[in-house]
Amino acid sequence: MLWDSKIIAVATSKGGAGKSTSVCCLALYFASQGIKVGILDCDPNGTLTRWHGKGGALSQLPIISEVDEKQIISSIASLTASNDIVLVDCPGFNSQVMVYALGVANLVLVPVMTDEANLFEAIRTKMLVDWASSATNRPIEVRGFLSRIKSSNLVAHSRNELEKAGVQMLKASVSDRIAFQEATYFGSSPLIDEPSSGAARDVIALALEVSSILDLEKISRPHMPAIHDLAS
Ligand SMILES: Nc1ncnc2c1ncn2[C@@H]1O[C@H](COP(=O)(O)OP(=O)(O)O)[C@@H](O)[C@H]1O
Ligand SMILES: [Mg+2]
Repeated sequence: MLWDSKIIAVATSKGGAGKSTSVCCLALYFASQGIKVGILDCDPNGTLTRWHGKGGALSQLPIISEVDEKQIISSIASLTASNDIVLVDCPGFNSQVMVYALGVANLVLVPVMTDEANLFEAIRTKMLVDWASSATNRPIEVRGFLSRIKSSNLVAHSRNELEKAGVQMLKASVSDRIAFQEATYFGSSPLIDEPSSGAARDVIALALEVSSILDLEKISRPHMPAIHDLAS
């Protein structure tokens, strides 16, 4: 392993699946647990960077923006120097920067909506992770999770199809909820704005599964800020 910090890449070659939203919400969840989190925006659209600039809780976390394939390794190295976790927000299309992000990740999280194109791109992304794992001769955990789900039999269908195609799926899923969109206007997360909402529960369930895959419970938490401190 290259670094002591855990690198989590959130990736799928499908745009709009919920990558930037997941990075924002997971980053703020882990920060609320006293874990030091750095974020890397590799999407040329700069969505996460824009949310970071809104002055909300996200703006308190260190970010490196406009990261391309030439900068990604040195950017990760610089964030790992002072953070326990580095979350990497990938572009929504196949690109060199995404391949590098997969290649250095400890865990790749693939958000998947329940339509055919999302499933197709998630399976392609999982294949790319397998390739990156062979190329770098190191294990890379990869998990899909259903994102923006609505009540429909497509939920069970998508999960089955993805697992059949070899994409290991998290039990946690994220429902389509307006609270996630509201939070984007403030660079925040439902976990902070509406801590007892269904959206906050979705984030916590997702974060707890990620924690257990990466053994994040073992990270020491000298300064445990309350969630409302992050919002101030
Ligand atoms: N669980 C959700 N419920 C409702 N809207 C969501 C949810 N997740 C993401 N969105 C919205 O969908 C859009 C795309 O999400 P985003 O995280 O930017 O996707 P990506 O980074 O994969 O392109 C954004 O407008 C975001 O607010
Ligand atoms: Mg994005």
